[in-house]
Amino acid sequence: MTRWANVIGTGGYLPAKIRSNDDLSTMVDTSDSWIYERTGIKNRHIAADDETASSMAEAAARQAIDMAGIDVQEIDLIIVATSTPERIYPSTACLLQKRLGIQKGVGFDIQAACSGSIYALSIADQYIKTGMAEKVLIVGSEICSRITDWTDRTTCILFGDGAGAILLAAAKQPGLLATHIHSDGSYEDLLYCPNPQVAAAANQNEAAYIHMRGNEVFRVAVNTLGRIVDETLAASGLQQTDIDWLVPHQANTRIIAATAKKLGMSMEQVILTLENQGNTSSASLLLAFDQGVRDGRIQRGHTVLMEAFGAGFTWGSALLKY
Ligand code: COA
Repeated sequence: MTRWANVIGTGGYLPAKIRSNDDLSTMVDTSDSWIYERTGIKNRHIAADDETASSMAEAAARQAIDMAGIDVQEIDLIIVATSTPERIYPSTACLLQKRLGIQKGVGFDIQAACSGSIYALSIADQYIKTGMAEKVLIVGSEICSRITDWTDRTTCILFGDGAGAILLAAAKQPGLLATHIHSDGSYEDLLYCPNPQVAAAANQNEAAYIHMRGNEVFRVAVNTLGRIVDETLAASGLQQTDIDWLVPHQANTRIIAATAKKLGMSMEQVILTLENQGNTSSASLLLAFDQGVRDGRIQRGHTVLMEAFGAGFTWGSALLKY
């Protein structure tokens, strides 16, 4: 009998502190209008000193668990996507497991930069379809502010902090319809962040911040996301008109608009959180999905296309019957 991964809960967490474009214009040579016109971003949340990837993951996860109404002990797999873990090890998934009081099953992190939550959805889908897991908690949690150079106007305008969660359960009716994930490491120089401790120990003194060649990333992202949309539709046998909602990784409104156009969708069919959250990396599309579910736009039976693109490059899509 076919098993499907169904969404039974979603959650999101954003730190209280907000940094606006006007705040940034007191820190670097930029302006609200420049940032908003080029990116669609106005504000981003910044984690407090005592917040960590695992503390924010817990807040988002608890919301998803509450929505699902399950006992936390039913979760048998935790996958955390993060590029900003508070420890190299144990994994953030193990730290989250401890926070949730779970001592069985398995938890691990995956690192695929901004595509992390799509990778996690793809992995969870395989575990559920093959009967290896019944209930899977996926969390994307990022403190991008700690790997951002706040003196570099080409990157510091883009990123923010936050966590998003999705809880999947095995069921007989369709849920996750298809996932596609890809990577191509030949683009490593366009977007990367050194590991400070390891780099320093090897006397490589490159700053441990996000390094990005923005306009080149932009070009590859638009082309690649166009291709993943084609691939997803062709593999699923669905038409553009069958998609109710696009839930994209939130990097830049112009990148998102290009993908929506490719799908023949209006921006009213796109869940956008970018304006007040910025790019929260692996958390962003989970936060957007949570918002769409909680404000009632995404309803049971709707078909949702999620897509993401990030450092690596990594990219992918997940097609979901909610
Ligand atoms: N404020 C004002 N001017 C800025 C600026 C800022 N914050 N950042 C860059 N500029 C300047 C540049 O110095 C450059 O000046 P010059 O022409 O005198 O050299 C000019 O603006 C144009 O720079 P460019 O990098 O070509 O701008 P852009 O239109 O490509 O926009 C990004 C820059 C970063 C907004 C855009 O490239 C982008 O969003 N790229 C994708 C990044 C991304 O999404 N990364 C994450 C992927 S998951």
